Amino acid sequence: MTHTYLKGLACLGVALSLVGAAAAPVLASGGGDAIEPQHWSFGGIRGHFDRPQLQRGFQVYKEVCSTCHGIKRLSFRNLSEKGGPEFPEEGAKGLAETYKVNDGPNDQGKMFKRPGRLSDRIPSPFDNEQQARSANNGALPPDLSLIALARKVEAEHPFYALPYFMAKDIVTGYQEGGSDYLHALLTSYRDAPPAYKMDHGHMVAMTEADAKANPSLPRCASITSEAGADDVCNKMAEGMQYNVAYPGHQIAMPPPLRDGVVKYADGTPGTLENYSRDVTAFLAWAADPKLEERKRLGLMSMLYLLVVAGLLYGAKRRIWSKIPH
Ligand code: HEC
Repeated sequence: MTHTYLKGLACLGVALSLVGAAAAPVLASGGGDAIEPQHWSFGGIRGHFDRPQLQRGFQVYKEVCSTCHGIKRLSFRNLSEKGGPEFPEEGAKGLAETYKVNDGPNDQGKMFKRPGRLSDRIPSPFDNEQQARSANNGALPPDLSLIALARKVEAEHPFYALPYFMAKDIVTGYQEGGSDYLHALLTSYRDAPPAYKMDHGHMVAMTEADAKANPSLPRCASITSEAGADDVCNKMAEGMQYNVAYPGHQIAMPPPLRDGVVKYADGTPGTLENYSRDVTAFLAWAADPKLEERKRLGLMSMLYLLVVAGLLYGAKRRIWSKIPH
């Protein structure tokens, strides 16, 4: 009885891994381009944050992203708490004081501004959505507090392979889809979309040399194709940027990062790749500040359950061994 059961399980395992091997993992955003899974220090069941990386990431957020994006769920005190960037408390206090925070009404019934305190939330660059949109050509820069959890990578697997990939994500503890996407987004700005040629109702991408030779060919950020109809070229709209990681490939955010825009004090080279990884790690922490505690507790609970399972099994064998067959 037990043997057939075990054999069945083993067969299922083998079948699932074959299915998985056949369907190579392609991670893609809504736009359909591959998003590379990255190695993150906070990935996996024993993941933890790299403090200097979080500190550099905060620097990138503050010097670059904070002109357009708020991070309103973070307070200054969080920056010096355990499990985060762990800036010295004096540093976080000093930083808070460089901000002007709205307070009041005071004795005269008036609102006033005062220097920030550790307990204040980090002020957002705009007072409301209207102001944010009017400063950004009508587009809304989202608050970045939870963005690392709000985005994910949509995996393009055939439906029969899904159980395999779900099981794999559970075993490896893969939860970094949002971070993989953010890193791809920040590093995937390209000069111009490819030129396309219509061929029997289908748009075919041309090489850059062909496109240069034939400037009248349309350049399409993406292609919409429906069965039974000709493909439609989605051209870039006014003021949009071409980004191959963003769904639809056109985004209103101008490329925020390029080599050398931020000067790191710890000697880490100031490259686009480093800025992007650091600010992504910082946003991953901001969205999940208890990650380290949660993972540590999870691992301990699993170990505890394993030990208890062993003890119970031993006890069960001992008790039942006294009963004659
Ligand atoms: C000049 C203003 C500006 C700066 C600076 C800026 N952004 Fe943006 N960002 C925007 C706007 C506007 C949007 C909305 C884009 C849209 O709706 O097409 C946006 C959207 C985003 C999104 C959402 C993308 C999605 O999937 O919806 C993320 C994530 C993001 N920005 C991250 C960053 C990071 C990280 C930085 C700093 C390195 C940064 N931004 C700097 C203006 C900015």
